[in-house]
Amino acid sequence: MNKSLQKEAKIGVVGAGTMGSGIAQTAATAGHEVFLYDSYNSALENAQKHLGSILQRQVEKDRMTHDEIQQIMGRIHFVEDTTQFEEVSLAIEAVVEDLETKQDVFRRLEGIVPQDCYLATNTSSLSIASLSAALKKPGRFLGTHFFNPAPVMPLVEIIPGIQTDPSTTDQLYDLMDQWGKSPVVAKDTPGFIVNRVARPFYGEALRIYEEGIADIPTIDWAMKELGEFKMGPFELMDFIGNDVNYKVTYTVFKEFFFDPRFKPSFTQKRMYEAGLHGRKTGKGFYDYEDSSNNPEPTRDEELGKQILNRILVMLINEAADAVFMQVASVKGVDTAMKQGVRYPRGLLEWGDELGLEWVLREIKSLQDTYGEDRYRPNPLLKKLVRKNRGFYDLQTAETN
Ligand SMILES: NC(=O)c1ccc[n+]([C@@H]2O[C@H](COP(=O)([O-])OP(=O)(O)OC[C@H]3O[C@@H](n4cnc5c(N)ncnc54)[C@H](O)[C@@H]3O)[C@@H](O)[C@H]2O)c1
Repeated sequence: MNKSLQKEAKIGVVGAGTMGSGIAQTAATAGHEVFLYDSYNSALENAQKHLGSILQRQVEKDRMTHDEIQQIMGRIHFVEDTTQFEEVSLAIEAVVEDLETKQDVFRRLEGIVPQDCYLATNTSSLSIASLSAALKKPGRFLGTHFFNPAPVMPLVEIIPGIQTDPSTTDQLYDLMDQWGKSPVVAKDTPGFIVNRVARPFYGEALRIYEEGIADIPTIDWAMKELGEFKMGPFELMDFIGNDVNYKVTYTVFKEFFFDPRFKPSFTQKRMYEAGLHGRKTGKGFYDYEDSSNNPEPTRDEELGKQILNRILVMLINEAADAVFMQVASVKGVDTAMKQGVRYPRGLLEWGDELGLEWVLREIKSLQDTYGEDRYRPNPLLKKLVRKNRGFYDLQTAETN
């Protein structure tokens, strides 16, 4: 790695909300001096309090010493202007998800930071290309997509835009590796890896529910009990928030020029419209105010397998598409889903294990039943079945 990004390098973070403060904590834990800036002083005060209590909990759990947290906090400077960004080697933007606001932040940053400073965005849905349009020197700019909570989740998607210099990608990849993260390079396409590949986890679950095949607790039970996912799709949608999850789904659908594979569901749209956003509003697919209102699942193994298989093959098909369209490598896609959303297994290794011929047969049967383009099998999956090979045979060929 280039000397400019070693431990001595100072890091600037713009936006002291959930992600910005988590990124600042991560960088300071890795030994960097960090300048955390927000345009609202109250956000800075909240971030300072919040970080203090998160680190204090680490001491209570014996994961860090009092001295260590003092040092980490001592390395984070909560700044009310960006004057000190004159000294940084990397500036990461984590402000609200709005194109104009982010472009404006980058225009200003470019006038302050040194000529050789790298610039990164934590956007989850805007294209790197559209943000880079605001910059005079887009070669030093790329996406570094952290997952929430940033200090805990290992995945960072590294997203070069069409104007990013390859050396910028290499430098940021090495830096994330040095910070103890699991970086994965992804192409600048809607949803990058995780937010694209995970869509059927929610979408197909909603579809199964809408068709009346099973109720919500039964679908969640099947995915957890038989699929070993940490949370069921509906629990997870309630946790993320139906407002946030619906908007991400709609954005991916729109950005893919309305490909029916990503079509949002009316069920979730109505939940969003009604303000039933999930845990944060007390009600979503489940009632968090009075849990006695939540029905028990039907623990029918046969039905459970049907649910799991349908969602799983759709996830594998989507993961195959990410490889087919060269969004990421086989290993990259599997790492992203395990380290970014804690899937119990990589989807492509799971597919290989189940047998791709079986996966393809299941998808074709859905396509026959519904006649919808949503269920079209991916060309790479079809090719591998024709050749009697697995996804990891491709990975071996890639690395040899
Ligand atoms: N929250 C998540 O789970 C998550 C996960 C991955 C990526 N992201 C992305 O990270 C970014 C930040 O998300 P968040 O959840 O931390 O949002 P947030 O609302 O918690 O924080 C955003 C912060 O930006 C500040 N801000 C707004 N405009 C600013 C400006 N012009 N200059 C400086 N500060 C400004 C706000 O005061 C606020 O403190 C977004 O792009 C989001 O899509 C969020």
